[in-house]
Amino acid sequence: DAAPVTVTITGAGGQIGYALLFRIAAGDMLGPHRPVRLRLLEIPQGVRAAEGAALELQDCAFGLLRDVEVTDDPAVAFAGANRALLVGSRPRAAGQDRADLLAANAGVFGPQGAAIAAHAAADVRVLAVGNPANTNALIAATAAEGVPADRFSALTRLDHDRALGQLASALDVSPSHLRDVTIWGNHSNTQFPDVSHATVDGVPVVDALAQRLGGADAAVAWLDNVFIPRVAGRGAEIIEVRGSSSVASAANAVIAHVRDEARGTHDGWTSAALVSRGEYGVAEGLVCSFPVTSDGSGYRVVEGLDLGERVRAGLAASVAELAAERDAVLALGAL
Ligand code: NAI
Repeated sequence: DAAPVTVTITGAGGQIGYALLFRIAAGDMLGPHRPVRLRLLEIPQGVRAAEGAALELQDCAFGLLRDVEVTDDPAVAFAGANRALLVGSRPRAAGQDRADLLAANAGVFGPQGAAIAAHAAADVRVLAVGNPANTNALIAATAAEGVPADRFSALTRLDHDRALGQLASALDVSPSHLRDVTIWGNHSNTQFPDVSHATVDGVPVVDALAQRLGGADAAVAWLDNVFIPRVAGRGAEIIEVRGSSSVASAANAVIAHVRDEARGTHDGWTSAALVSRGEYGVAEGLVCSFPVTSDGSGYRVVEGLDLGERVRAGLAASVAELAAERDAVLALGAL
């Protein structure tokens, strides 16, 4: 039998937790041969909801699920963790400004980073999902003294998959025919979805769009006026239509992010926010979304791509927002 993997999920009693736990236990994330132990971290008022989910997990009789533990103590939750999925965060309260939101989340992700450093397994990998995800990952990575920075990432796979969905629909193909789309920057509406290297069945996506939409100008107009705002604003669109935020698609993106990180990417790259080592001129230390691949041992930035002027400008604008978030957290003394 393969050794079980211990997966810690914070905010496990919340909406994304409820969409995520059952798929992890079913083997969608780490594969059909990998047993899992689940550690569900909640704040005291969320513990009952997580306990309820744990009862339902038992009722699914998943063959891969070794055990489930619910706790409100980070030291217990992260003990021996191989994977930490940081989903729980402080939502923006009515009238709360960005600095207050960052401060509230520094109070969550700082202590969680420290608990990961103190209690997790030596091979721990950490994914921040709770917003503001990039800066929350930065806070956790900074607090996790001794854990290498390349073990931390933030989720932009949902943005990436939203981009694939829009392109697939515009080109009337299955998303599986598309490759090498990139989300650059922050998981916010400043992100830059980039198709300049993307292909559909080997044909540049921009050429395929031009053919379908009646010319290169029409393709550029669609990308600028429809595609980019639609992808960057999709979270708000879901809230408006569904009456509630993206949950199942967010959980699906978490599954896909970790699956590809642990089992390897195929057919081109995907997108994830990693701690910058200065790639593409992004200030070192910022947690920025890049094109990434994995051979099964963790994500690496795809380097050496030629970014056109527009992509460089879009990336720079989103990186400026990341730097402002970092500076706001620094000013709080939380880094
Ligand atoms: P939710 O409000 O339903 O659940 C959050 C849960 O986290 C709650 O049960 C709460 O009790 C718990 N929690 C709060 N503070 C905690 C702490 N210190 N330790 C442990 N648990 C804690 O929210 P939902 O819908 O599950 O979303 C979770 C987060 O994911 C939000 O911040 C949301 O903005 C973010 N998100 C990120 C996406 C991405 O692409 N990066 C996509 C969609 C959502």
